[in-house]
Amino acid sequence: MAKLQDKVAIITGGVSGIGAETARLFVKEGAKVVLVDWNDQNAKSFVDELTGQGGEAIFVKADVASEEDVANVYKETIDTFGKVDILFNNAGIGAVKPTEKLTYAEYRKTVSVDLDGTFLVAQLAIKEMLKTGGGVIVNTASMYGWVGSPGSAAYNAAKGGVINLTRSLGLEYATRNIRVNALCPGYIDTPIIPEDYKQTLRDVTPMKRLGTSEEMAKAVLFLASDDSSFMTGNTLTVDGGFTAQ
Ligand SMILES: NC(=O)c1ccc[n+]([C@@H]2O[C@H](COP(=O)([O-])OP(=O)(O)OC[C@H]3O[C@@H](n4cnc5c(N)ncnc54)[C@H](O)[C@@H]3O)[C@@H](O)[C@H]2O)c1
Repeated sequence: MAKLQDKVAIITGGVSGIGAETARLFVKEGAKVVLVDWNDQNAKSFVDELTGQGGEAIFVKADVASEEDVANVYKETIDTFGKVDILFNNAGIGAVKPTEKLTYAEYRKTVSVDLDGTFLVAQLAIKEMLKTGGGVIVNTASMYGWVGSPGSAAYNAAKGGVINLTRSLGLEYATRNIRVNALCPGYIDTPIIPEDYKQTLRDVTPMKRLGTSEEMAKAVLFLASDDSSFMTGNTLTVDGGFTAQ
């Protein structure tokens, strides 16, 4: 039996990296997926790929930090599939710059996408899930929600916020059948990491390699499916050993 048979899953940041690979796995496991991204460049070909394999998928262009766009994501989802069972709340941007050079606008932009956007998309998911009796939310935080690093103050603050947002939502809805957990990836081989920086990141990872989007997708499937049915308000750190150091 497929693990997500007939479940409707919204995946933000759904056309690249961890989000796209998770969409492939979710469709294989029987889910209908709503791909959300502010970049629509590869959206049509990716929807074609998923539907070509017999899956059901739509794309909705949206900025997760825009209330209007997010409201439209839920309208399109309900109009097309009638409900929301799973949210993979994964869209994010990085910001690597020494703090003394970071503008307040750059700081705000990072926090607004990585933390405020995560809240906004989760809040509307919760409203829909309360109507249908429950659901599952998986937020993408980061190992940098656990530990600090120089030059990434805005990103790290936002991801730390995502971890405590996850705890708080998990507790708030624990008796209402909405589970909320977070994935904390280490360095993963996706377009968010500049090519010329990848070797440095392999070197500082105990396993001496980057993680893959496929490895993240399997962890997300665990969190999104009944395999993690007694888990809420918690995190799964998948980082090749980085935060064990
Ligand atoms: N790759 C890593 O090493 C790593 C490590 C820890 C955490 N993460 C987190 O994983 C998540 C996925 O990142 P990825 O590595 O797959 O990178 P990615 O760049 O391949 O994917 C991120 C996607 O999010 C989309 N996006 C960004 N801002 C958006 C917005 N405001 N509205 C809608 N879509 C938006 C991008 O267009 C992109 O398609 C992010 O939250 C990232 O912070 C990644």
